[in-house]
Amino acid sequence: MSYSYLVRPSRNLTGEASVPGDKSISHRALIISSIAEGTSIITGLLESEDCMNTISILRELGVSINKNNKGEYLIYGKGLHGLQQPNKELNCGNSGTCMRLLTGLLSAQNFNSTLIGDNSLSSRPMGRVKEPLELMGANIVLTNEETSPIKIIKSDKIGGIRYAMPVDSAQVKSAILFASLYADKKSTIVESNTTRNHTENLFKQYGINITCNKNTIEIVPRKELEAMKINIPSDISSAMFIIVGVLISKDSNILIKNVGINDYRIGAIEILKKMGAKIEFKNIRELSNEKIADIYVESSALQGITIPEEYVSKAIDEFPILFIAAANANGKTILNNANELKHKESDRLISMSEGLSKCGIENSVNDNGIEIVGGSFAGGEIESFSDHRVAMSFTIAGLITKNDIKINNIDNVLTSFPNFYETMKGLGLDIEKIENK
Ligand code: S3P
Repeated sequence: MSYSYLVRPSRNLTGEASVPGDKSISHRALIISSIAEGTSIITGLLESEDCMNTISILRELGVSINKNNKGEYLIYGKGLHGLQQPNKELNCGNSGTCMRLLTGLLSAQNFNSTLIGDNSLSSRPMGRVKEPLELMGANIVLTNEETSPIKIIKSDKIGGIRYAMPVDSAQVKSAILFASLYADKKSTIVESNTTRNHTENLFKQYGINITCNKNTIEIVPRKELEAMKINIPSDISSAMFIIVGVLISKDSNILIKNVGINDYRIGAIEILKKMGAKIEFKNIRELSNEKIADIYVESSALQGITIPEEYVSKAIDEFPILFIAAANANGKTILNNANELKHKESDRLISMSEGLSKCGIENSVNDNGIEIVGGSFAGGEIESFSDHRVAMSFTIAGLITKNDIKINNIDNVLTSFPNFYETMKGLGLDIEKIENK
């Protein structure tokens, strides 16, 4: 059984919105508090399928995790060397963050383990995480295609590393950082473009000796970690669906409260502003070492642009919804240097291009990017390719379609934005969930 969304042409979105906790920070908070000594308290944790998979795996590794009646998660950390050998394969489901970060952590443990995932995750590249971890002394076996299952065989020693990142990936960087806690000496990671730095921010909060200077990160190994309280802001990647929905529909404005605005996550906001979007950060403040704000957005006339390369890694998860904005803009939007989009939950260049074409939007995919010509959205029946962000992006397009739009296979929306349907309906989208038997 699977589900589809049917969206009827809707006019506008108004009100005050809130979106669930940040997915990237939620995974990291769960993992670090599991290897701290004592009870860490997490507020605002994202309760999505991806994060629930991380919780199940940490429980399998011997960590007790409970939720109290205030909605906070209590993580009874086992200390850096207290995790236990799992009795079964560890299932990461659809989550690349879960799989890659845990590969880093598990590479440095005194036991063997195996990580598996669903069909989508089992086809994503894992050689990128194996390579640096093996340079540190880890033993990792992948399939011939360099995909999961990831078999981790315990290693005698994890050494420090100096590593220049060949791809822009916060997941790979974070895997190295988790392994570096156990190394025999300091490690240095050099990025060509700085990616989201939530791991670095959390490590600083936990008192770990980590310094970030331009694109270079240095981390000193650690003997023990003490439990902390972590407050997680709302996820800007989820907020972005509402933001673009407001921008492209008429007479709309919305305030979205308490959203994380980490400097390396706001590329899509910067791109949209260049396209003419009226977006404002209000009440900027700090929460657990992360910058947060309330985001005010109103309907705007968008103009197509050539997206500057330096924004690509900072907007990497937002391209599906940015393509919907581009389809509604005046003129052509050009994206290059976005090869990484081929390696997400689906090949997002192909999945988005196919859906846009079905809706009558002219576009062409090239080697590492796409060109989209703004036009009028007809509607139609779209495949999500089981990709949560593709599904949510075409749902938002319902605000500007001439006819109904039906998006098939929307089940994976639960991996990142469990109450997406209720949130969008509440803001004025004419949406129905249909069960396909
Ligand atoms: C993430 C990093 C990015 C992003 C993913 C979450 C993270 O992946 O696309 O959704 O939490 O570190 P890459 O590291 O593959 O770029």
